[in-house]
Amino acid sequence: MSHLKTPATVAGARMTGLGAYRPDRVVTNAELAPRIDSSDEWIQERTGIIERRFAGAEETCASMGAIAGTRALADAGIAATDIDVVIVATFTHRHATPSASAEIAHLVGATNAAAFDISAACAGFCYGVGLADSLIRAGSAKHVLLVGTEKISDVTNYDDRGTAFIFADGAGAVVISASDVPGIAPTVWGADGSSMDAIIMQPDTLTAARVGVQSFLTMEGQRVFRWAVGSMGEVCERALVAAGIEARDLSAFVPHQANLRITNAIVKKLDLPESVTVATDIQLTGNTSAASIPLAMDALREQGQLKSGEPILMVGFGAGLAFAGQVALAP
Ligand SMILES: CC(C)(COP(=O)(O)OP(=O)(O)OC[C@H]1O[C@@H](n2cnc3c(N)ncnc32)[C@H](O)[C@@H]1OP(=O)(O)O)[C@@H](O)C(=O)NCCC(=O)NCCS
Repeated sequence: MSHLKTPATVAGARMTGLGAYRPDRVVTNAELAPRIDSSDEWIQERTGIIERRFAGAEETCASMGAIAGTRALADAGIAATDIDVVIVATFTHRHATPSASAEIAHLVGATNAAAFDISAACAGFCYGVGLADSLIRAGSAKHVLLVGTEKISDVTNYDDRGTAFIFADGAGAVVISASDVPGIAPTVWGADGSSMDAIIMQPDTLTAARVGVQSFLTMEGQRVFRWAVGSMGEVCERALVAAGIEARDLSAFVPHQANLRITNAIVKKLDLPESVTVATDIQLTGNTSAASIPLAMDALREQGQLKSGEPILMVGFGAGLAFAGQVALAP
């Protein structure tokens, strides 16, 4: 039997560009609270959220993701036509098919790219980092554009006391490119479908369409909270071991911006020293699912706290229940 050719493998991949898009409209807790008999104080105390952004009626996952993607390309200093693969993490794209990635590749001008979406909810961005790293090291791609983009306001029930105040809209993107020096450590990931009902779109979209109601994101808040606080610390520890570094070597910790109390609990479990900057973008951005980690990186950069080339720990977790975490060098 003859041997088939395979691409030459490369030593590593790293994030070389970062871009973000935050919609204009700022929505305060005071605006959402009356419909759910809540208050600014309660929302801030339970989640850390002060305000969030909602996209405009004309904006979509794809349009927001394309802006973030274009900004990431400019930051990396590479042409859209040099992108080999566009990966988009989202659960709020308006079409089950075609993909958001095909639309975003078109909008950014990535005319030579393969394009596909991944469905891993709030873990989607970290799943994408792991996938991009693997594609690049296997020699299947040299430059990947990874976008996390969400318009969760489209699928939120503003009368639901458990979700109305948490979720928000926005997009973030990174360019990941081949590198002589590895800049992305192994991804620790998994999913537990036995808990698929903990965060789920209800009714499912087909049933909703058939009976003429809207499909909304629903969540068993306490169950998700206990799972995240109980197990994401260990996922982070495994990611640190896989990277061969200690928590004190980190420059920043950028977890999914689910809830400030979850972030604080993981920080405590990891016993992170003061020297590690902790992303708290949820306060002004809300929970933007797959977009939250690149948006939080962007906020750190704006504050002068994201040091390019320094190790950061990222971890995403949510519906599925899917999770993924890795150490990577900051873009
Ligand atoms: C959603 C969440 C903030 C709710 O907080 P909680 O402390 O679990 O709230 P509970 O449901 O236990 O309710 C506690 C009390 O607040 C009240 N309450 C619930 N929702 C409220 C609201 N929106 N506003 C005001 N009061 C509310 C309840 O009635 C209850 O009152 P009681 O003690 O008098 O009975 C919390 O469960 C959470 O953060 N979960 C994880 C969410 C998350 O990260 N999701 C994304 C994963 S990707």
